[in-house]
Amino acid sequence: MTLMPGPATRNASPRGWLLITNIGQLLTLGSGRLDAGPRRGDDLKELGIVSDGAVLCVGGKIVSVGTTKDALRDSWIRKHRKELTEIDCAGKVVIPGFVDSHTHPVFVSPRLVDFEKRIEGASYEQIADAGGGIRSSLEAVRNATKTTLERKLLDVLQDMAAYGATTVEAKSGYGLTVESELKSLEAIRKAASTWPGTVVPTLLGAHVVPKEFQGCSQKYVEIVCKEMIPRAARRSLARFVDVFCDKGAFTPEETEQIFAAARGHGLSVRVHVGQLSETALGPLLRFDPASFDHMDHVNDNDVRQLAKRNTVVTLVPGANYFLGLKTYPDARRFIDAGVPVALATDYNPGTSPTVSMPMTMSLACTQMKMSPAEAIAAATINGAWALHMADRKGSIEPGKDADLAVFDVEDYREIPYWFGAKRCEMTILNGVIASHH
Ligand code: NIG
Ligand code: FE
Repeated sequence: MTLMPGPATRNASPRGWLLITNIGQLLTLGSGRLDAGPRRGDDLKELGIVSDGAVLCVGGKIVSVGTTKDALRDSWIRKHRKELTEIDCAGKVVIPGFVDSHTHPVFVSPRLVDFEKRIEGASYEQIADAGGGIRSSLEAVRNATKTTLERKLLDVLQDMAAYGATTVEAKSGYGLTVESELKSLEAIRKAASTWPGTVVPTLLGAHVVPKEFQGCSQKYVEIVCKEMIPRAARRSLARFVDVFCDKGAFTPEETEQIFAAARGHGLSVRVHVGQLSETALGPLLRFDPASFDHMDHVNDNDVRQLAKRNTVVTLVPGANYFLGLKTYPDARRFIDAGVPVALATDYNPGTSPTVSMPMTMSLACTQMKMSPAEAIAAATINGAWALHMADRKGSIEPGKDADLAVFDVEDYREIPYWFGAKRCEMTILNGVIASHH
């Protein structure tokens, strides 16, 4: 990523005034109704496309959105044209920067042994039982310096931007001691202060019960509730607390305990649930989670409950792909029932080592039968809802943060179509231009 104007850019403006013109398809995702809640049902397909679009940004915010013809006739723009950094998109597609609302980017090494074992037929649980899985990433994170973690994280954030993401939720969860979880969150904060995009930190101290607490998980849960959460909250190191609530990780009762501590310290909650087995969601709903993530297994009653709420179901098909599973979460069941869904990479070393939101969308289309339009909305505006940031992120509307992605395609449907390709050629992150040639 280079933080400088791309080839089609002229007149770098000292005041951060940006005029983006000649956008073949400008996907605004605008609804004009910020209180309308996350997109559900047929609304998930509404992309608010402007042909031959233009966007004016000032001071990191979007100021106006319309056609290029109208922008070039506008008297303020005419008067200040020379002072504007102008980006001529030459007919390309511009979308809101992706909001990747579920990632685990604070780790040291890829997990190549697990990768091979799985190819040979081992299951998620068999790999974990053999000392692989989440626990095998802990030692390196515990031993790493904060600077090492921060540098690795910054590289990842830059890679994510190269695929179009401008807002990224980042979880801790590979240290699982008080010190190493706080160190991971500090590394997230440091990397976030260098990266021009927006990072949302999440404490995932309850990722798995570490070896030292095997057989006495309650002791570990106490540490999460009484030490990790209060210390992270006191220093504003996390916005959310997440729990891996599933077979082999934490029970629903432990999850409720951790959620109560989080809410007690003013943090919102989100949860990995239904990846390996079904969990009743009712008891967790009283903590008003921002998001239920994975959701491969869920019962009809819970689907009906979710249709009435703003809790987003975040689908992460990259994990199913990488685990070589034949089945994927039933996106159609959720969408058709009126449950709001988001898409995220679940970037992590064990089950989804991808930084690519377009690849995630491609999997959503081909494996979960979401339409390209639904996939775009799930990867932008509904991701913003899943992070409680829909007032600032996820659509191209006046007043929102200047977070945009320019794709070298003529039609937005090409974004999930050219699977595995990198067609994003520029992102604008809080008004800062990064070109990705
Ligand atoms: O989202 N499910 C729990 N956490 C990750 C896996 C993390 C890992 O294997 O390191 C997930 O798939
Ligand atoms: Fe995850």
